[in-house]
Amino acid sequence: MKTRLPIGILVSGSGSNLQAIIDHIEEGKLDAVIKVVISDNPQAFALERCRRHNIPYVIINHKDYPLRDDFDQQLIYELQSRGVELVIMAGFMRILTARFLSSFPMRIMNIHPALLPAFPGLHVQRQAVEYGVRFSGCTVHFADDGVDTGPIVIQSVVPVYEDDNEGMLAQRILKEEHKIYPQAIQWFAEGRLEVKGRKVHLRAAKELHVTPQHNPSLVIR
Ligand code: GAR
Repeated sequence: MKTRLPIGILVSGSGSNLQAIIDHIEEGKLDAVIKVVISDNPQAFALERCRRHNIPYVIINHKDYPLRDDFDQQLIYELQSRGVELVIMAGFMRILTARFLSSFPMRIMNIHPALLPAFPGLHVQRQAVEYGVRFSGCTVHFADDGVDTGPIVIQSVVPVYEDDNEGMLAQRILKEEHKIYPQAIQWFAEGRLEVKGRKVHLRAAKELHVTPQHNPSLVIR
């Protein structure tokens, strides 16, 4: 039997990336097991997705933790006590403390709806439309102590059209997020991601030829 990577997923909202990860696991394309989903928002629709798929979840409401360090300490406890080896931030809207980062060094992934290092931070689809860029996209990266600055695992590009608004662009980008996040996690599960400084190397990648849209190119579809 294949070994499956124990992952924990942090969410705050809709959880469509969580859903993509669940679907890839259920379809046998992603060798991971979701040990726990943690939401800082009790109303997150992501929790409904957990109930539908019998996935354990915990709510850690940031409003109950006046001290940021206490909130992160609770997060660390819930993840470590379940043996989580990779932490997945999937629309998790809180910045992690140094304590959290040092508990999972290069074992925290984030997805961001822009082509980093362009447009870090919040409301980035709106910023891309307003700036007038012709292409945007999404980035999976390891978390470090900056905001959206860590080593990049994979990116996907989408066009930005003249009549796009923020929502239209966000939807186009989300479709790509749902492809590249499961792929990045699968590479981690296979032990193929090697971080050297800023760069993430994909080991033994016979498919390393690059498509115009995804870099590195997708293997699971
Ligand atoms: C996604 O677009 C994700 O990239 C973004 O939030 C959305 C969550 O959607 N994350 C960030 O902006 C983090 N800075 P989802 O809850 O449907 O997965």
